[in-house]
Amino acid sequence: MPRNVVVLGAGPAGYVCAIRLAQLGAKVTVVEKEFLGGTCLNVGCIPSKAMIAAGSLLHRLGDMAAMGITAKDVRLDVAKLVEWKAGIVGKLTGGIGVLLKNHKVDVVMGTGRIQDKTTVVVTTKDGPKTLKCDDIVIATGSIPIEIPGFAFDEDKVWSSTGGLRPKKIPEHLVVIGGGYIGLELGMMFRKLGSKVTVLEATAGALPGQERDCVKVIEKSLKKLGIELLTETFAQGYEHKGGKSYVRIKTKAGEDTVVCDQILSTVGRKPYSAGLGLESVGLAVDAKGFLAVDKHMRTKVPNIYAIGDIACQPMLAHKASKEGLVAAAVITGGKDEYDARCVPAVIFTAPEMASVGLTEDQAREKGIAVKTGMFPFAASGRAMSLMETEGFVKVVADAKTDEVLGVHMVGPEVTELIAEATLAIEMGATCEDIARTIHAHPTLPEAFMEAAEAVHGMAVHIYQRK
Ligand code: FAD
Ligand code: NAI
Repeated sequence: MPRNVVVLGAGPAGYVCAIRLAQLGAKVTVVEKEFLGGTCLNVGCIPSKAMIAAGSLLHRLGDMAAMGITAKDVRLDVAKLVEWKAGIVGKLTGGIGVLLKNHKVDVVMGTGRIQDKTTVVVTTKDGPKTLKCDDIVIATGSIPIEIPGFAFDEDKVWSSTGGLRPKKIPEHLVVIGGGYIGLELGMMFRKLGSKVTVLEATAGALPGQERDCVKVIEKSLKKLGIELLTETFAQGYEHKGGKSYVRIKTKAGEDTVVCDQILSTVGRKPYSAGLGLESVGLAVDAKGFLAVDKHMRTKVPNIYAIGDIACQPMLAHKASKEGLVAAAVITGGKDEYDARCVPAVIFTAPEMASVGLTEDQAREKGIAVKTGMFPFAASGRAMSLMETEGFVKVVADAKTDEVLGVHMVGPEVTELIAEATLAIEMGATCEDIARTIHAHPTLPEAFMEAAEAVHGMAVHIYQRK
């Protein structure tokens, strides 16, 4: 008999798991309370990248004069931009519906609750529906964190969701949180015409990310005219006369920033409200995650958890990978979540991407490291794109020459990181990368040169012995 599986949540964890389960012969039902494609397709990765692309295009018009191109009468129609973005989301989410249908996955729209180890009750618009199954996969994702004094009303205070459907471009936007979303959307609004102030609690932007790369991003924030206030906490706000008065606390004392829009992006938390975990003896940890083993199994053997609900990093590609592992295990495979690394890509300007260990992390593990760096300023391709900021940095094991980590900031690095991820996953050495012919003139040549630089042998920069 094929396994009968209920998947709770149709984000990149849940829908990918469901399709793979169907491919492997299981009978699958996906329960989704809001939208196929989850946060990622509807209010996350895809719409943000669409809007960011539009912002970049508008901003780059300024660069064109140097190429001898003049664009006149350029205007932004915000309603049209939001409609275009919604069209992309519609096409993709519609595509997920078709894929699920073609794979004969049943979709039940409603909120699922676990009643016991083999029963899920779904509250649908037509009343409750009971689903019996052999296995349950929890893929309910995460929601934005709200801080005191800044309840999301999606009017004066936007969450990322409100920020992705603006009615107009704010004159002055205050962003609370200088992490992934704060910087991606903050830079986007700046490029679309807003004055932007970012309030960040820690000592620098993008805490936890590779600091050499972050330095380039912080310089770029300055160049774009974005004010980054570090070690700054937003305390609350008053709205009067069409303006929001945001009270802030910094090391220097208390102050007020006047703006006409607030965007609060201080992180996301796993979502398990009303899921009925207690009915099967499951509980989340202090941060809201559901503990799983390397097979994505919770401590109840036929209940699995994948994606943002399971653990950090809260990234779509990690969520999907976990979905594939769970599907294989449920259908009898011995798969494990054994990825050596998870790439991180940040769509700032310039873009930033990292995979594997940073220099500091490698040293903390007691590994003797060697590094190599290649600046995009020395890349012919980067010059022809007029995007020469940034570099590729390779961290390697000094004894074995193995690539341990690659950190990039610059043009298209969110694409370039794929080669570095494969290199680490396959245990490649810097010599392997250096000996591989990279097409010219392309940006990936910068990775090859950075790998050469580990040995002091980069050709297109001078490395003093
Ligand atoms: P989700 O995508 O959140 O999906 C969970 C689904 O479960 C939702 O559809 C929800 O409605 C449903 N659900 C919840 N509870 C129930 C229930 N009881 N019954 C039925 N259904 C339920 N990640 C990247 O890797 N790259 C990016 O560029 C990127 N950009 C982002 C930009 C923004 C603005 C945001 C907010 C996030 C971004 N992320 C990005 C993060 C990414 O969206 C998440 O890591 C990813 O969506 C997690 O997938 P998931 O399937 O675990 O959860
Ligand atoms: P984040 O964790 O990336 O950043 C939150 C920031 O807010 C941190 O810098 C933190 O120090 C700061 N902060 C926390 N409390 C604060 C306070 N009270 N005042 C001021 N600053 C405060 O979280 P974010 O940006 O909300 O994104 C959530 C998650 O979504 C990310 O961690 C990532 O996993 C995912 N994401 C991924 C993207 C990508 O892959 N390109 C893009 C967007 C989101």
